[in-house]
Amino acid sequence: MKNILITGGAGYIGSHTAVELIHAGYGVVIADNLSNADTTCLEGVKKITGRDIPFYKADCCRKDQLLPIFREHRIDGVIHFAAFKAVGESVEKPLMYYHNNLLSLVTLLEVMVENGGGHVVFSSSATVYGQPPVLPVTEDTPRMPATSPYGNTKQICEDILADAVKAYASVKVVILRYFNPIGAHPSALIGELPRGIPNNLVPFITQTAAGVRKELHIFGSNYNTPDGTALRDYIDVVDLAAAHVSALKRMEAYDKPGLCEVFNVGTGKPLSVMELVKKFETVNHLSLKYRITGRREGDVEAVWADTSLANRVLSWKARRPLEETLANAWAWERNIRGIT
Ligand code: UFG
Repeated sequence: MKNILITGGAGYIGSHTAVELIHAGYGVVIADNLSNADTTCLEGVKKITGRDIPFYKADCCRKDQLLPIFREHRIDGVIHFAAFKAVGESVEKPLMYYHNNLLSLVTLLEVMVENGGGHVVFSSSATVYGQPPVLPVTEDTPRMPATSPYGNTKQICEDILADAVKAYASVKVVILRYFNPIGAHPSALIGELPRGIPNNLVPFITQTAAGVRKELHIFGSNYNTPDGTALRDYIDVVDLAAAHVSALKRMEAYDKPGLCEVFNVGTGKPLSVMELVKKFETVNHLSLKYRITGRREGDVEAVWADTSLANRVLSWKARRPLEETLANAWAWERNIRGIT
């Protein structure tokens, strides 16, 4: 059995990926410094899988905290989620973002190389494309200058990984560029747990439906899109988690050194903010209080993925219908709020 270390495994995407990995027959070790997560999802993963997963409260910027993990387990691969991810916060605290997001990757790679290398799946983001001139975006679409320190850390990390595979034959890399992950596990035992006021659309919607927020603000209705609201590619978090299993399989099957591949992970279908809001209301038989306000600074008008490369090379595609995803998002919110 191959053992995979999931950094940031107590978080939203990390916990869903832990479940998919275990179901695919992998051994999983989780490291998380719990800076932006508590143990709720770790407990959820244990309930869903029936496994007691080794957990290390470790900061990936700290070699002394990573080394014991590699000493105590044979680590065949790492899925690196541990990073700060709030665009606005990164503008206010750029050094904190550069320090954490870059140093954690570099430290992790150093520890891996010292311990014989392995496979790395890296969490990148559609943010690296900015507002692309042509849609949908393929992996060959040139990256745009980052509009936030957060986005810049993703670009720099991609570059660090590309350089690392050239220098260290023992390291293989798959970079996944996530579009907009939404939803929750169908068990409602794991899901997104934003701290404070959610930045992202779906947690804001579910919290509004739960009465935690007074109303949803729809940021802008004068975009050059069919209904005037912005277009995104919303990918179910369980489908996204499955892409990580496919990425590991890809590296296992690739018998030459120097692999550093990039894949878009989305549905390939654009959806407007208004369409998503309406779909959420219909699927969950409720009515959301919302108001159209001005555009949010830094938002792009439209971005969605061409996923043909992942479909072909990773044999992966998004499967879950949006209706199911939005029902799961609401079931998770109800579960954590104790709403029947
Ligand atoms: N939106 C609202 N109201 C809200 C929240 C969001 O109308 O309360 C809109 C946004 O303006 C945008 C869409 O919903 O049009 C999606 O917004 P999200 O914040 O959910 O997602 P983003 O597309 O802005 O962000 C995602 C990732 C980031 C990444 C960014 C780069 O969450 O990590 O893409 O494009 F950096």
